[in-house]
Amino acid sequence: RKTAPLPDDIRARKGGTPIVSLTAYTTPMAELMDAHCDFVLVGDSVGMVLHGLPSTIGVTMEMMILHGQAVKRGLRQAMMVVDMPFGSYEESPQQAFRNAARIMSETGAGAVKLEGGQGMAETIAFLVARGIPVMAHIGLTPQSINTLGGYKVQGRGAAGTQLMADAQAVAEAGAFAVVLEKVPQTLADRITADVPIPTIGIGASAGCDGQVLVVDDMLGLFTKFKPKFVKRYANLGEQAEAAVAAYAEEVRTRAFPAVDHVFADAVPEAKS
Ligand code: KIV
Ligand code: NA
Repeated sequence: RKTAPLPDDIRARKGGTPIVSLTAYTTPMAELMDAHCDFVLVGDSVGMVLHGLPSTIGVTMEMMILHGQAVKRGLRQAMMVVDMPFGSYEESPQQAFRNAARIMSETGAGAVKLEGGQGMAETIAFLVARGIPVMAHIGLTPQSINTLGGYKVQGRGAAGTQLMADAQAVAEAGAFAVVLEKVPQTLADRITADVPIPTIGIGASAGCDGQVLVVDDMLGLFTKFKPKFVKRYANLGEQAEAAVAAYAEEVRTRAFPAVDHVFADAVPEAKS
């Protein structure tokens, strides 16, 4: 693949080879995942992962735009989706359009993502009708942490009926895909079977139409806590700390810089 897929290309992957996605917040990380991911998500998880915030509630439009611009510079082949931050879209479809249009025009995103099901369907339809592709996000929606009462599994038992209705509602509203976060596997499989748009799972099911993870989680760079649904494919945080410790030791013992890292007074004569 040479050019980034469009939201309609992602939609057409329903039931096919699983869609691959990770989050990214910086140019170098975007560059290294570009050839391997169908879309890269500039998640509002950036607030917790890179800025040390206690939740995603404090993430601003300015943060999303700045990180979106950085990620876009690192992408050639993957589509970029940018999260709408808390407070930027819930008030009205008009407010959502104004902020989504800013994200699209200032970052070059292919789509925006927002949290919510039935309650956001009208807003999703409003954006899609005005040229803004929308990825929905239901189940555990971290921006609602203060009303959900914790980061617990969503849609267990009877609550599964509401989640299925949410998935159907965002699909009918025109979302091209829907993230299912932290829901029971059987429910994720039923939603995937019944809803006409791709489901992107995180803590959901291998049966989803795609998967997404927070890159710093799967690389072992963010280690404050590890949700059960995260698989660590590397332990880069440990490696980075060991490297810093080795550097500190070598500076204190004057082992660094060594001869390879310093300069002679005169430029050496060219070999003949
Ligand atoms: O912000 C984020 O990283 C996300 C993904 C976990 C889906 O929304
Ligand atoms: Na998010």
